[in-house]
Amino acid sequence: MKKIVVLVSGSGSNLQAIIDSCQSKLIDAQVAAVISNKPDVFALERAKQAEIPAHVINHKDFTSREEFDEVVAKQIDQYQPDLVVLAGYMRILTPKFVQHYTGKMLNIHPSLLPKYPGLHTHRRAIEAGDSEHGTSVHFVTEELDGGPIILQAKVPVFADDNEEDVASRVLVQEHQIYPLVVKWFIAGRLMMKDGQAYLDNERLPAQGYC
Ligand code: GAR
Repeated sequence: MKKIVVLVSGSGSNLQAIIDSCQSKLIDAQVAAVISNKPDVFALERAKQAEIPAHVINHKDFTSREEFDEVVAKQIDQYQPDLVVLAGYMRILTPKFVQHYTGKMLNIHPSLLPKYPGLHTHRRAIEAGDSEHGTSVHFVTEELDGGPIILQAKVPVFADDNEEDVASRVLVQEHQIYPLVVKWFIAGRLMMKDGQAYLDNERLPAQGYC
């Protein structure tokens, strides 16, 4: 059975979508472990409910990113996962960490990349007056939210929307597209080669599929 390690920092609704998809066999793998950089987040409760080993590695206990990432990598590697999934993991990654998992680490980012990398994406979309917003699943590279895009989903933004309205609309889409991309990866259909994403040996368009 292929193994996935999921890194989280918050509510873990994307983690839940992936756990559910493994349980329903949409994804032919198991979530072998969940690692959080924050104690007391709901994602840890979700792991517990699903009887998945969960670890807290609090970034506040470390003086450097390098040291922190080294400990996280050690913990991940104990499970020898086929795939590392970042699901609302709110840490900037060191180059060494990224290189260690090149081609086998995915992230979901709540914007239509390359628009709005970084934080506060929903607020920025609203403030810019965008009528369309969304989410992107991509391979992780050293550039923050800059790796090759695999799949995106769009949502409308309405004139009277606040951040929560947009965030919850985006999450609904994330719970659809993230498990699908994980399924493709686990089935061996998806890979990164020379900094590009390929599905069934076909190079994906620069914006991924939408
Ligand atoms: C998701 O919307 C995800 O795209 C975003 O955090 C939320 C986590 O929700 N990720 C980032 O902003 C990463 N930079 P969840 O904890 O309920 O899955």
